Amino acid sequence: MTSRLSESGFGLELQDVDLADLNDQIIERVTKAFYASGGALLIRNQEHLTPENLRDFVALFGTVEKNEKYNPDFLMPDFPEILRLGNLMENGKRAALWIKSDDVLMWHSDDTFRDPQPIGSCLYCVTAPPTGAATWFAGMTHAYQALSDDLKKTITPLTALHSYDHLNEFLRLSNPHRPPLSEELLKELPPIERPLVVKHPVTGKKALYVTPIHMESVNGMTEEDARPLLNQLLVHATQPQFTFAHAWKSGDLVLWDNRCAMHAPSPFDADKHDRLMYRLTINGEQIESAAEQS
Ligand SMILES: [Fe+2]
Repeated sequence: MTSRLSESGFGLELQDVDLADLNDQIIERVTKAFYASGGALLIRNQEHLTPENLRDFVALFGTVEKNEKYNPDFLMPDFPEILRLGNLMENGKRAALWIKSDDVLMWHSDDTFRDPQPIGSCLYCVTAPPTGAATWFAGMTHAYQALSDDLKKTITPLTALHSYDHLNEFLRLSNPHRPPLSEELLKELPPIERPLVVKHPVTGKKALYVTPIHMESVNGMTEEDARPLLNQLLVHATQPQFTFAHAWKSGDLVLWDNRCAMHAPSPFDADKHDRLMYRLTINGEQIESAAEQS
């Protein structure tokens, strides 16, 4: 059984499933539900999963990354696919990647400036604080479908430059201790041109692909014209009917699809409460341009 998580139908919860028992029938139910969800699938009550179970489940959707770019202290021993997130300390040292969230929701699709882009991630809750730390999700296929025909026509041929440097400089405004990107990283991750409207390689559905914090510019437009357009699209896509916030409980798991969904973290009181999440990141079939198809 599935139930909707937003009014538009974006986001599904799949019930009565045990991911420790990945038989053919369960695999079919889970994959169908994932692609039907528009990019965010919630499954609760999975406290009993082993790291192998979690890894095998995520591997159904693509190649699971081994997190080479992270501090090995943050990875689960013997399972480099599992990155620990949160305020976990061991022997006075951080044992998980700690990213402090803001009150303002930082909507994004992960690493749109990377080529290939990770196609999705799975977050699994080990320990949740009693309040706060909800993760927000926004459905970009549903948001695209609700645009006026005129606006669809205007934005479909447009492309934007996605840049890690742009994101880093934006983050430096509120985190002045954060250094500028090194020459090495600037070379390794040059800006990449991506369409504003994309086609999902599996479902064939079109989706908005707008992450203003990664977008340096829109090709053929001035900054004065581009920024209001990007903000208009972001405000449209993050309306209540296209979004939901998931308040985590231990054993919950959400699998999302960067090709048709955005997400945003929210803060909690890290001085008073613990939070520990596992994150697994997937590589696979990349977005396609919607313009070439229309
Ligand atoms: Fe993210």
